[in-house]
Amino acid sequence: MKHFLQFSDLRSDEYTYLFERAALIKRKFKAYEKHHTLADRTLAMIFEKASTRTRVSFEAGMYQMGGSVVHLTTGDSHLGRAEPIDDTAQVISRMVDLVMIRTYEQTKIELFAAHSRVPVINGLTNEFHPCQILADIFTYIEHRGSIKGKTVAWVGDGNNMANTWLQASEILGFKVHLSTPSGYEVDQSVAGIRSSDSYQVFKSPLEACNGADLVTTDVWTSMGFEAENAARMKAFADWRVDAEMMAAAKPQALFMHCLPAHRGEEVDADVIDGPQSVVWDEAENRMHAQKALMEYLLLGRIA
Ligand code: CP
Ligand code: NVA
Repeated sequence: MKHFLQFSDLRSDEYTYLFERAALIKRKFKAYEKHHTLADRTLAMIFEKASTRTRVSFEAGMYQMGGSVVHLTTGDSHLGRAEPIDDTAQVISRMVDLVMIRTYEQTKIELFAAHSRVPVINGLTNEFHPCQILADIFTYIEHRGSIKGKTVAWVGDGNNMANTWLQASEILGFKVHLSTPSGYEVDQSVAGIRSSDSYQVFKSPLEACNGADLVTTDVWTSMGFEAENAARMKAFADWRVDAEMMAAAKPQALFMHCLPAHRGEEVDADVIDGPQSVVWDEAENRMHAQKALMEYLLLGRIA
C-alpha cells in the first residue's frame, strides 16, 4: 500500500506514468467520456483548514470516476473534540477506500497513515503540498514539455509550497532558484531533501528570476500563521512578483500561483492576469492530476 504524504513518496518513473495518465483522464473529461475506474470506491476527505480548490477537485474528481465522497471537518467530527488521530484513522479506514487530509503538522498525517488500512493523501500540511506540485508540473509539461533541466524561480515564503518544489526538483531533475526574505528561509531538513544540489539561494528576488523557465509564488501568510500577518507584510514587501521580474525570466517563462492569490501583495495584477500566467489551468489540473493519483494508489498502473 502506498501513501502520498510528501512528493518524495513516489519515484520519477511513477510521476511519468501519472502525468501521462492525467493527460488521458483530462482528454476523456473534455470529451464527456465516462471514466469510471473507481466505481463503488469511497474517499474520505478531512479538512482541518479551509479549502476551495482541494475540496472541489477531489470531490468532483471522485464522482467523475464513479466513486463517492465523505467530507469531514474538525468542527463537525470528533477530531475537534480530541479523539486521538490514530483512533480516528483506525475507524475511518475501515469504512472507506482512500483518505485525503488537510491539516497542520506533517506528524499528524504521518500518524494517521501509520494507523490507516487504506492509502492516505496529503491535501496540504504546514510542511508540504504535494498534490499542488503534481498539478503544477503537469501544467508545465502541458505548456512547455518536460521540466527536466529547467529552472523554477520561487519568490516568497519558505513554506509548504517551497519545500515541495525542492523535493520535486531532486526527483525530477530541475533547478530551483529560491528567494525568501530573511527569517523566512527554507529549512533543508524540514523540506526533507538530501542535498542542496538542486537549488540555489538568492538574496534578490529579481536575480532569482533571471533566466527562469517558470516564476512562482504563494501567499505571504499561510493558513495557521495568521498571527504573524503584520510582520510578514513588512518583511515580504520586496518579494512581490512584478513585470520586471517576469522580464528577467526567459521570454517563454510561465507564471504560476497555487491560489488563493492577493493581487498587490505577493503578485501584481498585471502578472497574474497577464499572458504568461497559467493559474486557471493550474487550478483545473488539480482535478485531473489527482484523479490519476487516486486511481494509481488504488489500482496501480493501468496498461
Ligand atoms: N491551492 C489550494 O490548495 O487551494 P485551496 O486552499 O482552495 O484548496
Ligand atoms: N501556503 C498556502 C497554500 C494555500 C493553498 C497555505 O498553506 O495556506
